[in-house]
Amino acid sequence: MQNEKDQITNLRLEHITKRFPGVLACDDISLEIGKSEVLALVGENGAGKTTLMNIIMGLYQPDSGSIFINGQEVHLKTPNDAFDCGIGMVHQQYMLVPNMTVLENIALGMKDCWKTAKVDLKLVRDRIKEVSEKYGLAVDPDAFIWQLSVGEQQRVELVKTLCLGARFLILDEPTSALTPQETDELIVLLKRMSEELSIIFISHKLQEVAALSNKVAILRHGAVVFQGNTAEHSTSDIAALMTGHEVKLPENTEPPCQGEDALVIKDLCVKSDRGFMALDHLSLSVRNGEILGIAGVSGNGQRELAESITGLRRTSGGTITAFGDEIQNHTPNHIIRHGIGYIPEERNTEGIVPSMSIKENIILKDSSQSRFCSHTFLKQKYIAQYAENLRQRFDIRCPGINTAAGSLSGGNIQKVILAREIDRKPRFLVCVYPIRGLDLGAAEFIHKKLLELRKSGVGVLLISEELDELMNLSDRIAVIFKGQIQKTLDRKDATRRSLGILMAGVKDEKQL
Ligand SMILES: Nc1ncnc2c1ncn2[C@@H]1O[C@H](COP(=O)(O)OP(=O)(O)OP(=O)(O)O)[C@@H](O)[C@H]1O
Ligand SMILES: [Mg+2]
Repeated sequence: MQNEKDQITNLRLEHITKRFPGVLACDDISLEIGKSEVLALVGENGAGKTTLMNIIMGLYQPDSGSIFINGQEVHLKTPNDAFDCGIGMVHQQYMLVPNMTVLENIALGMKDCWKTAKVDLKLVRDRIKEVSEKYGLAVDPDAFIWQLSVGEQQRVELVKTLCLGARFLILDEPTSALTPQETDELIVLLKRMSEELSIIFISHKLQEVAALSNKVAILRHGAVVFQGNTAEHSTSDIAALMTGHEVKLPENTEPPCQGEDALVIKDLCVKSDRGFMALDHLSLSVRNGEILGIAGVSGNGQRELAESITGLRRTSGGTITAFGDEIQNHTPNHIIRHGIGYIPEERNTEGIVPSMSIKENIILKDSSQSRFCSHTFLKQKYIAQYAENLRQRFDIRCPGINTAAGSLSGGNIQKVILAREIDRKPRFLVCVYPIRGLDLGAAEFIHKKLLELRKSGVGVLLISEELDELMNLSDRIAVIFKGQIQKTLDRKDATRRSLGILMAGVKDEKQL
């Protein structure tokens, strides 16, 4: 580790302003973070949090304003300049190369292993081992990134940043893709790390902000609207300051639904990317007008379940019947036409085409339908009106519907997908972590929409790791463990404890 990296003790931003076409992303922001401090940066989707961090990392240049490290002004032109100052960032959208291994990905950023003509992979392997052991972050150096769950990729990003010698960590929504247990572990880890490092931590989950940070700053429309010591403010105060109103997530209070079966899965067997049986004779059913929650620690078959229903993964046995017809191993297009909507786990790769506009992404699944297209020509005017209407109703914060979807903030990308999938009026919806990355106000809105869908008779399969979300919305909750449904509980019988026990693989509480 270089000496200068050990010395970063203070980072100060003064009057940082950054515009994108049509948006003022950062509006005269001044902030200061000292040694061993953890600053939580919170704010609505599109408030400018990621942009500000990208400026500190040298990925964007501010239009005006200055950055000082230990009182000295610095000009961070590239991420390498930031690394040289000891600053490292775990990005909201992971920046790993999928078809390379963990080891190779980490080697890419480590300058010291590139000194000779041959890359010194042994050095990288040793550094990974050292960091993994020091911080208790287990990673398999030889696994390919595409084989890893989002949570595991998150851990790789953190190990990578630490291997590069960061003394000042920026974590952009590090917990949004983690399981509750992983989140708790990460918070403990970060707390321990904060004794020797400084951290800027972005999160929409205010309990984490309270547990980890000692300072909090709230951004709204690119400007800092509040700064203070975390301990002096309750989470509900911070939520109210952030959204401008008190937030209360809606609850499903209706009696259990008696509709006909919409989706019936029998003895489903599906292989994972790594070749083992991810779903092992799984059976479940969802009625019209029912929300069936799937609880479980990620990696127990949730991804394979969602992908096999939506035609993205081949099954090796069993049946999936939707509205009386078997749909397993049909094409995604056939399944879309059969009325099945899908909110996928990975929004950037499966949910949108980043280079296409918001408008195009919104009609992506229906572009050949007569309401959007006549004689192979798109009805541009109608499409624009339709997309504009959705933009307003779903509060997608963007310069306009012609903006490329990939340039939106993480939460706003999620809103584009939700707007498309909900407004297409599916007959059945497969919903994977629907509020991941959404701010509190947006989460409240989406939960209302899912309950409205339910009320209109649509069946919903809701895969989530947030027990509160599952208990608020579901009629029944099925717990998935090692590719099988452990048990299905009615909402009234589901408690954090009963779900937690089932999620850990214990079928009968009496066994404890
Ligand atoms: N590369 C870009 N080109 C154009 N506009 C951009 C770009 N990056 C960000 N923006 C815009 O800047 C604004 C701030 O976005 P940013 O990603 O910083 O928000 P955020 O606070 O991180 O939101 P979220 O909580 O959803 O991640 C948004 O309106 C976004 O559309
Ligand atoms: Mg962001």
